[in-house]
Amino acid sequence: MTPRLTRADLDTLPSYVPGRNPADLARELGMTEAIKLASNEVPYGPLPGVVEAVATAAATAHRYPDMGVVELRETLAAKLGVEADRVATGCGSVALAEHLARVTCLPGDEILYAWRSFEAYPIIAATTAASSVRVPNTAGHEHDLRAMSAAITDRTRMILVCNPNNPTGTAIRRPELDRFLDSVPDDVLVVLDEAYREFITDPDVPDGLETYGDRPNIVVLRTLSKAWGLAGVRIGYLVAQPAVAAAVRKVVTPFSTSAVAQAAALAALAQADEVARRCALVVAERERVTAAIRALVPDVPESQANFVWLPLGAGSAEFAAACEKQGVIVRPFQGEGVRVTIGTPAENDAFLAAAAAAL
Ligand SMILES: Cc1ncc(COP(=O)(O)O)c(C=O)c1O
Repeated sequence: MTPRLTRADLDTLPSYVPGRNPADLARELGMTEAIKLASNEVPYGPLPGVVEAVATAAATAHRYPDMGVVELRETLAAKLGVEADRVATGCGSVALAEHLARVTCLPGDEILYAWRSFEAYPIIAATTAASSVRVPNTAGHEHDLRAMSAAITDRTRMILVCNPNNPTGTAIRRPELDRFLDSVPDDVLVVLDEAYREFITDPDVPDGLETYGDRPNIVVLRTLSKAWGLAGVRIGYLVAQPAVAAAVRKVVTPFSTSAVAQAAALAALAQADEVARRCALVVAERERVTAAIRALVPDVPESQANFVWLPLGAGSAEFAAACEKQGVIVRPFQGEGVRVTIGTPAENDAFLAAAAAAL
């Protein structure tokens, strides 16, 4: 028998499920194209100037990138009103979440998070050999912060708070987040995962950096994959106290913020007005889709992100399969619900028609 070469405890770990490839589905259905509403991307293409910046950076593809990511970190710092020593970048914010686990946890330590939340969290905990402590969401699909507070133990090293939450779209308001953060011991790192920050319209949902950035145990995690349209080049960042950011920069895989990603990010960050315009389009469509889908599916929670959550329970996989037959790819979470990304108005219309047929 071949000797075992990898950790047995990882065998039961669920794999990250990427959205299905629309070209494959279109081919299967004999359609010219399928619609992908499964990965929370913004549908309007790269921002102006990004493709050119990527092409320019590609001309030096034989050279290593700036490992210190100096220009980009300084640009982000200036934009966010912090010192550059508080910023770290990574190959997507998901990589940074992994690095944060690595700098906080030893085997057996605990990472606490709400569930259901971002599906990478259990994978990150398991690969760090930390224990996952998952606190079920409330009946309204929100973080149960009181229960999370009660679940903190001496072994808790890191808490992930996803605001707004993927995949339910629900957001935490200021008073409850204040209360929760006050209840967390000083030596436990709290990561506010704000991947969807730019789509928030409720003023009662706090900006993690503005509101809590001066607390030593808070890390604000953001990405350029969603509103900033760079999912394919992989770039995320965090803002933390200097010692925490420095620890992350130490463990980051060398050169994992590529030259192309650095150039693309700098070009994208110069397009804040266009990002705001696109986010407004997404938000208007979010409200329209939410109202329309609520006529078909009960208890769709209010979303502050660029997707909506359909709590279809046992019917989730069947609903997603029926949408796929109509050429619309959505993301089922077996036995729980279906997450549908907001696309262009035409894509959303196609989804609503597919949903009506499916239900
Ligand atoms: C809550 C949340 N955090 C982080 C990420 C990771 O984004 P990226 O690694 O593309 O920056 C995602 C992506 O879907 C997400 O939903």
